[in-house]
Amino acid sequence: MLKFNREIVTGMRDILPHDTALWNWFEAISRRIMERYGYREIRTPIAERASLFERSLGEETDVALKEIYSWIDQQQLNRALFKVRDVAYETNSKISKHESPPRERLLQLMDSGEFDDIAERIRICLRPEATASVVRAYIDHGMYLNPGLTKLYYVGPMFRRERPQKGRYRQFYQIGAEVLGQSDAPAIDAELIEMLVVLLGECKIEKWTLLLNSIGCKECRPKYVAALRRELAAVKETVCGDCQRRIETNPLRVLDCKVPQDQPIIAKLPSISEHLCAACRAHFAELEAQLKLREIPYTITPRLVRGLDYYMRTTFEITSPVLGAQNALVGGGRYDGLAELLGGQPTKGIGFALGTDRFIEAIREAGKVDAALRVDVFIAWLGGPASAQVYPTAVRIARKLRAAGLCVELPPEEMKLKKSLGLADKLGARYALILGENEIAAGKFVLKRLSDAQQRELSEGELAGFLRAGTGKANH
Ligand code: HAM
Repeated sequence: MLKFNREIVTGMRDILPHDTALWNWFEAISRRIMERYGYREIRTPIAERASLFERSLGEETDVALKEIYSWIDQQQLNRALFKVRDVAYETNSKISKHESPPRERLLQLMDSGEFDDIAERIRICLRPEATASVVRAYIDHGMYLNPGLTKLYYVGPMFRRERPQKGRYRQFYQIGAEVLGQSDAPAIDAELIEMLVVLLGECKIEKWTLLLNSIGCKECRPKYVAALRRELAAVKETVCGDCQRRIETNPLRVLDCKVPQDQPIIAKLPSISEHLCAACRAHFAELEAQLKLREIPYTITPRLVRGLDYYMRTTFEITSPVLGAQNALVGGGRYDGLAELLGGQPTKGIGFALGTDRFIEAIREAGKVDAALRVDVFIAWLGGPASAQVYPTAVRIARKLRAAGLCVELPPEEMKLKKSLGLADKLGARYALILGENEIAAGKFVLKRLSDAQQRELSEGELAGFLRAGTGKANH
């Protein structure tokens, strides 16, 4: 027999009905708000080519280096090996036309670097984020031809092989939005942030901080990075191993190192805000003005560089003090130039992704949203020998009440009245409808409010209207 272990995969979790009610509420309100701001939903696949993210996020970022779940598509591998063989025959003398090279040899050849374009096609991964996918789709479907700005949103799971802890999972969920097009007006950035502030308000999350920065552009960032590298070279021996590597590969990433011993060193490093070019300074000043216009408070955080390489100019995060170590609710920023990097037309872009898992936690902490689904009415039907006549009426009424938007529990088998009422109570039902032979004969049913045992008699025609009013569903 095959070995079997029922344990859930590390870093993955079940979200149970108690929680999904709040998740569904949150996703619905997020969609509604984003649609009011003119965003439309895009659904991209969960799997993409790994190189899409390596190119977009930067090969030196943690996500690309360590966290992507990738694999070789075996079926495509075989096809790729044929191609390697054909190209090798034609272009070099590494293999002769007369031998049929063994698979091992072809694999070696493919790994040699000479066939990267073939090898690239067969490495597939689970998406660690969706911005790169959205930009890919924007290019693939010619969305740059759309009139005005293209505003897209997405809802779904992402995958990163991170060390799991509270608020950090290997399958986690994001809701994100991206604005793509020809304008990089700071009003776009500010309106995107305003939309998040509205969402926080709807969720009754009052404690949050908007961290804001500009990390410059192609003009000014290289000069800043050079200055940073110079300063860092002097302290190289004192920083952590990861930072020593980053000094060579991507010194900006040193700024968001979380190792406590490195913090005093990082605090003394030059700040990007002093190195911004005139155009970036003007963009940031206008963004501040646009946020003030919308009365959105923010904290300028010069060390906020974010972990992904595609950012330029605006970067931001929204943090919550109730979340512990993983306190970022939202991360986002501008990524002008990413479309070109992926082979598209020059395009400006900005977006954000919020962590749904963390938002849900913050909503629970704030404790002001009740999204629990409740049973509105439990049909306690009983007829003894006459149950064959009673049950069809119960089925008909249940269907009518459900059609009127009520949540109805109809026991599949007859129960004694006391047991029925006990179960209705345990299920948290608001009302019990008592349905027996006598009630059917009289055309009047007893409706019992379970919170205070108050009873009233109603005709079949009156039931739906009364229950909708009594459960607060009259206006839905
Ligand atoms: P990010 O900062 O990597 O940005 O992720 C955004 C949010 O996703 C985080 O603030 C956090 O709430 C949540 N998150 C990230 N990793 C995890 C995890 N392992 N477990 C739970 N929640 C997590 C991006 O993904 C960019 N694509 C955002 C963006 C969109 N920038 C421009 N457009």
